[in-house]
Amino acid sequence: MTEKNAFLEAFKRTKYQLVGHGPRNFQVLKEALSSYDEDYESDVYGNGKVIEDFQEKMATYLGKDAAVFFPSGTMAQQIALRIWCDRNGIHKVAYHPLSHLEIHEEDGLKELHRIEPILLADKNRLIELEDVLSLEEDISCLLIELPQREIGGQLPDFEVLESISTYCREKGIKLQLDGARLFEILPYYQKTAAEVCQLFDSVYVSFYKGIGGLAGAILAGDQDFIEESKIWKRRHGGDLISLYPYIITADYYFDKRIHKMATYYENAIELARLFNECKATSTLPSIPVSNMFHVHFEAPIENVKSILIDVYEETNIGITGNLRPIDENSCYCEISLGDQFSKVPKETISNVFQILNDKLSGIVK
Ligand SMILES: Cc1ncc(COP(=O)(O)O)c(C=O)c1O
Repeated sequence: MTEKNAFLEAFKRTKYQLVGHGPRNFQVLKEALSSYDEDYESDVYGNGKVIEDFQEKMATYLGKDAAVFFPSGTMAQQIALRIWCDRNGIHKVAYHPLSHLEIHEEDGLKELHRIEPILLADKNRLIELEDVLSLEEDISCLLIELPQREIGGQLPDFEVLESISTYCREKGIKLQLDGARLFEILPYYQKTAAEVCQLFDSVYVSFYKGIGGLAGAILAGDQDFIEESKIWKRRHGGDLISLYPYIITADYYFDKRIHKMATYYENAIELARLFNECKATSTLPSIPVSNMFHVHFEAPIENVKSILIDVYEETNIGITGNLRPIDENSCYCEISLGDQFSKVPKETISNVFQILNDKLSGIVK
C-alpha cells in the first residue's frame, strides 16, 4: 500500500468524519432511486419528463428563462463561453488564474474552442472591479467563480459583484457564473439564488458538491442561449441517451440538502475556529463564508500525515483524507462541511483538536 493510500485508508477507517456527506458509494444512487416509481420513464436524448421537469425546476430556482442538464460542468461552461464568443465575434474571455477552466480542464477552452483566456488578478486574491476596469483587451465574456475554490472558497462583497455586473452590462461583456458551489454561499450573502444569478447572463451549478449527488450540472440563461447550448451539448456527445441516474440523484439530494446549507456554513465557522486555535495551523479564509475552507499546516506534509493518522486511530474521528504539499515545510487540505459533522458526538470534537494541537506542538517550535 502506498503512503498516500495509507493516509486515505486511515481516514476511511474512522467511525466519524468531520467533513462531507459520507462515502461516495452505490448507496448514494440506491437511496435516490428508491424514492422513484419503477415505471418512471427514462429520458431519451435530452427529452422526457424526468429531465424536462428538473430543468424547469432549476430555471425557476435560479431565476432564469431556461436551463439544460449537462453530464459535467466542464462541458457546460466551455459551451457557455463558446456561445458568448461566437455571438460577439471576439474569441477572448477573462477569468481568475486559478479558475477550473485554467487549471483542471487540460486547456479544453483553447484546444477545442480556440478561445484565448485572459487571466485577471493575482492568483492569491479575488477579482475586483479594478481588474475588470483595467482590462486592456476586448473580451466577450467574464467568468466569475463563487466562491473561489482554490483560494479557500473566498467571496467578494456582494456590492463588488453588483458593480462588476453593471460595468459588464454597460460594455456589452457577458457575465458567466461558475456556481459550482452557488448553493453553499447563499447563507453568507443572505440572498436567494435568483438574486445572485440576476447579476449574470448565464449560470452553471453543480449537483455533486454541497448537494452530494453523483455528477451533473445545470446551465441556465435566456431561452435562445439555452437552445444553442443544447446543440453544442449534442456536438460534444453530452446528450447521453439516458442521464436519469444523474438527474434523479441531483433532484433527490437537492431537495434533501438545499435547506441545510446554513447549517453547513455555521459548522464550517465553528470548525475553522478550532483549527485556528491549533499550533502552526491556520485557515483560509480565517472565517469561512461558505461550507468550505482550506487548512494550512506550517509543517512538512509527511509529519502532518503521520500526526493525523495517529489522531484518527486514537479518536476514531477523521478530518481529511487528502493532504497536499505547498512547499517543503507546509501543506494544506480542503475542508467541506456536509451531513457528517452533525453525526460526530459533540463532546469528542474538542478532544480531537486537543490531541492535534499537542502533536503539532511536539514538532513545531
Ligand atoms: C469551481 C468549479 N468549476 C467547474 C467544475 C467542473 O465540474 P465537473 O466536474 O462537473 O466538470 C468544478 C469541479 O470540481 C469546480 O470546482
